[in-house]
Amino acid sequence: MQFFIDTANLDEIREAARLGLVDGVTTNPTLMSREGHDWRDVAAAICREVDGPVSLEAVGNTADELVAMGLELVRFGPNVVVKVPMTTEGLKAVRILSGQGVDCNVTLVFSPMQALLAAKAGAAFVSPFVGRLDALSEDGMQLVAETLTIFRNYAMPTRVIVASIRHPMHVSRAALLGAHIATIPFGVLGQLAAHPLTDAGLAAFDRDWARLNGK
Ligand code: E4P
Repeated sequence: MQFFIDTANLDEIREAARLGLVDGVTTNPTLMSREGHDWRDVAAAICREVDGPVSLEAVGNTADELVAMGLELVRFGPNVVVKVPMTTEGLKAVRILSGQGVDCNVTLVFSPMQALLAAKAGAAFVSPFVGRLDALSEDGMQLVAETLTIFRNYAMPTRVIVASIRHPMHVSRAALLGAHIATIPFGVLGQLAAHPLTDAGLAAFDRDWARLNGK
């Protein structure tokens, strides 16, 4: 499974890259707005930094607006993937952009049928949002499971990015289901590496090492 990092923060991207955990990056307008710089500078810097797909979100109400912004976004780098919202106008935009060779990531996917429509429109990626569904007492990972089954049933090439991840169990279940990609917030990466028994074991080894060396 590939790990994308779900952030627009360059320090987080660099630190995750040092851990070898950045196969790509996903951003959205909310993440961009947290950075406090011109989003264009942030987007350009991320595209330069990352050796892998970088999702930049197109904003607009009509297919024409989404296509126009998508064509602007791809100028930031050869690794840009245009994020398009899961609306009927978004589907039209995906069809046009993918027809021009632009990879699209259909975002805000909350049902298997939305995922199927996005795949049929030509999306390279779909992003089911698991955490936001869980927050409504629905089962986000069930959406991922059903989407993967449908894509496998028809040998669809669209890749599933598990998005809106809140905790390590989301990543673990995504991997068990065989999801292609998880896009992970920086904080959750740290949680994935940690275990209290590792900390306790290390503390005991440090203590015994000191005793062994007469300290
Ligand atoms: C995915 O590409 C999105 O950026 C992201 O996962 C959004 O999720 P959240 O806003 O629910 O955390």
